[in-house]
Amino acid sequence: MNFKSLKDIDVAGQRVLLRADLNVPAQRGRVTDTTRIDRLKPTIDYLRDAGAKILVLSHFGRPEGEQNPEMSLAFLLPTLEQRWGAKVAFTPNCIGEKAEKASANMENGDILLLENVRFHKGEKANSSEFIAQLAKLGDIYVNDAFSAAHRAHATTEGLARSLPSAAGILMEKELTALDSALENPEKPVLAITGGSKISSKLNVLNNLIERVDYLVLGGGMANTFMNAKGIDIGSSLCEHDMSNEARAIMDKAEKLGCEIILPQDCVVVSDLQLNAPHDIVDAASIPSDKMAIDIGPETNTYIRSILEKCKTVVWNGPMGVFEIKPFDRGTNRLAEDVAALTRNGTLNSIAGGGDTVAALENAGVTGDFTYISSAGGAFLEWLEGKSLPGVAALEESKEAA
Ligand code: 3PG
Repeated sequence: MNFKSLKDIDVAGQRVLLRADLNVPAQRGRVTDTTRIDRLKPTIDYLRDAGAKILVLSHFGRPEGEQNPEMSLAFLLPTLEQRWGAKVAFTPNCIGEKAEKASANMENGDILLLENVRFHKGEKANSSEFIAQLAKLGDIYVNDAFSAAHRAHATTEGLARSLPSAAGILMEKELTALDSALENPEKPVLAITGGSKISSKLNVLNNLIERVDYLVLGGGMANTFMNAKGIDIGSSLCEHDMSNEARAIMDKAEKLGCEIILPQDCVVVSDLQLNAPHDIVDAASIPSDKMAIDIGPETNTYIRSILEKCKTVVWNGPMGVFEIKPFDRGTNRLAEDVAALTRNGTLNSIAGGGDTVAALENAGVTGDFTYISSAGGAFLEWLEGKSLPGVAALEESKEAA
């Protein structure tokens, strides 16, 4: 990782444009999950203690370049003040005269939240005019929004090329964790992927088989692989038109020495509903009128035996329909196994992606994993092996003053 950290730059008395990701879950004007806000606190504290003036930039939703009051950041103010333990001022436009005046009047340690950057078309277009207007407000750019780093927008990419820049503490933490999972992991490495469709994760699967020793497949995507192997999967969710792709991945994995682990037994139901009557059957004997909706206990036991040999786990996607009980059991048991081995100190465990975090929260193990990323789309693009524009720009950024 070849970029500056906060400790490499002098921020005292400087106006720092801090790109945060305040695209937080909210309902009826209230924040329902403060994780992303809480994870920014170390950077906020560091910058305040160092005497910086902090101007917070963020998007919220996808207003597509229009001023949309429903996507104003103003509703975040009480939560930010409470979670960061500091006063936060606000300007109703992230560029222009008022914002420039507010920036000029800031004292060291002050925090100013600027309105949703996506209210301007220049954000998504990464336009040089918009970048220049933003750059007037600050002396230094700090990017702490790993979860938006897959976007080449003005505040995630362009600013890093126009101001002296550094990664924030959260950005650095995310990248260090991800580096330890796939770039420079301790081997053997086991990846866990689940979810309903392989069509949306082909690039992820192709990248993972090149990098890991074991690849566990669960959820609907496992059915597509079993079907491609000629196994009768009954009425299970399956992408029948993806058989060739699934076979190509299995062939490539075999050549690369990556063991693909498919369910050995499955939980099957006739109707998918809460507490539906269910059976556990061998994966090769799924009745034609039933669907597989979770991995069974033998599969869990086998994965556990492999996990005990591994040093690193990367997890994206649940093993079954964890939202409907008791079909969260396979995911929960796997999560508990990874958590226990992490607690024992034998496993470095990294997880990410919206559904995955919800599944691990449901299993009650989030505190036991080595690192859980707060990113959704960015985590997936990283799993695909793509270079993230926000990270690349930090690496190529101007020298800090
Ligand atoms: C996220 O919530 O994953 C990020 O904030 C990115 O949001 P976007 O998909 O609207 O760019």
